[in-house]
Amino acid sequence: MSELARVSISLERRLLDQFDRLLKEEGYPTRSEAVKDLIRKRLVAREWGKGRDVAGAVALVYDHHHRSLVNRLMEIQHDFSRLIVSVQHIHVSHDSCLEFVIVKGRAAEIRRLVTRLRSAKGLKHHALMMTTTGREIS
Ligand code: NI
Repeated sequence: MSELARVSISLERRLLDQFDRLLKEEGYPTRSEAVKDLIRKRLVAREWGKGRDVAGAVALVYDHHHRSLVNRLMEIQHDFSRLIVSVQHIHVSHDSCLEFVIVKGRAAEIRRLVTRLRSAKGLKHHALMMTTTGREIS
């Protein structure tokens, strides 16, 4: 952990009230923690925007009876095996599977993987959770 610095900022009373309501509703213990979280979120968004090395997870929901879709998703994952750290497969119901594909690598390549997965016909849902390797974030 690095040394703490104190900063003083000026903002409109109404904006501060809104911020205080937000941090209360979202469970932040202090303004400092809420501000740090906002800054880190922005830094992570920049890492993704600038195509840095990032980490994340792609969630996929599909019906495993749809065999051609299952094969297609598997093929795509093998094409991008260099990015895939781990895959967690959960049988969420009789028909549905939920898969978490954990990824690490260049943001642009991960986006290409997501585009390919999204193009597979029959997916019930997909979502990308964008996070960081933590290397550039304090
Ligand atoms: Ni399953």
